[in-house]
Amino acid sequence: MTDPKLGFAPFARLRGVLIVFCGENLKFGTATQRALSPSGDLVRRAAASERFTGKSGSALDIVAPAGLKFPRLIVVGAGKDGDLKRRDLLKLGGMAMGKVPAVAPEATIVAELASGALKGEQVADLALGARLRAYGFDRYKTKRKDDDNRPKKVEVDFACANPAAAEKAWAVATAIGDGVVLARDLINEPANVLYPAEFARRASGLSKLGVNVEVLDVGAMKKLGMGALLGVGQGSAHESKLVVMRWNGGKRGATPVAFIGKGVCFDTGGISIKPAQGMEDMKGDMAGAACVVGLMQALAARKAKVNAVGAIGLVENMPDGRAQRPGDIVKTMSGQTIEIINTDAEGRLVLADVLHYVNNRFKPRFMINLATLTGAIIVALGQEYAGMFSNDDKLVERLNKAGEATGERVWRMPLGPEYDKQIDSKFADMKNTGGRWGGAITAAQLLQRFVGKTPWAHLDIAGTALGSPQTDINKSWSSGWGVRLLDRLVEDYYER
Ligand code: BES
Ligand code: MN
Ligand code: ZN
Repeated sequence: MTDPKLGFAPFARLRGVLIVFCGENLKFGTATQRALSPSGDLVRRAAASERFTGKSGSALDIVAPAGLKFPRLIVVGAGKDGDLKRRDLLKLGGMAMGKVPAVAPEATIVAELASGALKGEQVADLALGARLRAYGFDRYKTKRKDDDNRPKKVEVDFACANPAAAEKAWAVATAIGDGVVLARDLINEPANVLYPAEFARRASGLSKLGVNVEVLDVGAMKKLGMGALLGVGQGSAHESKLVVMRWNGGKRGATPVAFIGKGVCFDTGGISIKPAQGMEDMKGDMAGAACVVGLMQALAARKAKVNAVGAIGLVENMPDGRAQRPGDIVKTMSGQTIEIINTDAEGRLVLADVLHYVNNRFKPRFMINLATLTGAIIVALGQEYAGMFSNDDKLVERLNKAGEATGERVWRMPLGPEYDKQIDSKFADMKNTGGRWGGAITAAQLLQRFVGKTPWAHLDIAGTALGSPQTDINKSWSSGWGVRLLDRLVEDYYER
C-alpha cells in the first residue's frame, strides 16, 4: 500500500469509504448510529445474512450501501470494549486500516466504539495502529502489476468528537510511529546497502531533531582498546563503526538512561560459517541497533523529558583472509580477555565492548541492551516474548509493565554463577560460547561481566524482531520490536 495520509475530522465530515466499529450484538455508538440512520435497517439485514454479530476481528462489507452517500460501508467488529489498553487501540486501528479497500483513494474511520467516542489520545493510538498496519517496504519493487489499480494517493481520516485534541495527541503518537518505521526500514534494508558506515550516516540524520551524534571509527576504537568488537569486523571490507547518540531533554546534568544495540549489519557466521539456508535473514542481525536508533528518534521527536544515551556497535561478520579464527584471543576494552571458540557467537563480543564503554563513560542510571543474540532464545520462547536477563528486579518489573501495556512482551530468564563454568576458558578469562545447553543464558552471562554494578537488562530479540508473525499492526518481515516498549518505559518511569 502507498503510505496513506492520515488526518482528523469532526463526526460531521465523513468522506469516501466509511469504516465504523460495532460492539458485540451489533451495538453502535451514537455518532455512528446517526451516520447510518438514512440507510434504515440495511446494516441489520446485511449482518443477519452474513451472520455478523460484531465479534472482534470480523467485518461486514457493504458495497454501494442504499440510502447512504458513501461508496462503501465497512463495519468492523470490536468485540467487548471494556477497559481499553493502548495496545487494544492500536490493534483496532490496525484492523480498520486493514479493511480499507485497496482501490479506495479516500476513507473515513469513525473513532467511536459502542461505549462512546474515543478521547484524543485514544484516537491518536488508533491512528498509530493504522499507520503501522499500512507500513510496507517496497522501495526495491520497480514494476507495477498489470492488474494493480491502486490509487497513487490514499487519504484516511479519523472522525472524532474533538479533532483538535486528537491532533495534539498525534504529535506524540506520530513520533513513536516514525521511530518504529525507521527501525523497520533499517532492518529490512539489505546489507549491500546498509553496511556500518551507511548505518552510521542514517543514524546521524537524528541530529536534525537535536540529537547529538558521534561516530567513532576503527582508529578511535583501537585507541580505546575495543579488541572484541574490532575482532568481529576485521574480516569485512567495510569498516566497523561505533555510534553514540545523546538526547538531552531532561534536567541539565541529570544522569542519563542508556540503550545499547547489537548492530551486526550482516552475520555470515565468519569462519564458523552458517549454512546457506535462511542466511539472508542475517541482514537483520542489526535489529537491536535499529531499535535503539528508532527509540532515539521517538524520544527526540516527542521531546521526551529525559537524558538518554543510545550506543550501537556496527560491524559485519565475514569469512576472509583477515577474519578472526576459532582459538584467537581478544582483549576487550575492560581488560578482560575472551577466547573465540565459534566466530558465529559474535554479537556478545560487540556488546562486551559497547556495554563497558557506555558504563565507563556515562555511568548511566541503567543500561538496556537489545540484540538478536541467540537462536536458543527462539527455541525457548518462540516469537511472542523477548528473553529478558537482568541484575535488577525493579527494572524487570518496569519492563514487564511496559510490555503488557504495549504488547511488546518480555519474559525473564535466569542468570546465576552456576552457569559461569560453561564459559570458563583454558587460555583466557572466558570463552565466547558455552555449549549447546542454555545457549541464551550463557550468552547473557558473558554480557553481565561487562556491566559492573549498573542496573542492566539484556533483551534477546532474535525471535521477536525478525521474520515477525503477521499481526493487525504489522505485515512486514521486521516488526520494529522494542521501540514502543522502551518509549513507554521511559515515559512511565524516567521523565521528570
Ligand atoms: N545472529 C545470530 C543469532 C540469530 C539466529 C538471530 C537466528 C536471529 C535468528 C548469532 O550471532 C548467532 O549466530 N548465534 C549462535 C551462537 C552459537 C554459535 C553459540 C546461535 O544462536 O546459534
Ligand atoms: Mn552469529
Ligand atoms: Zn549474530
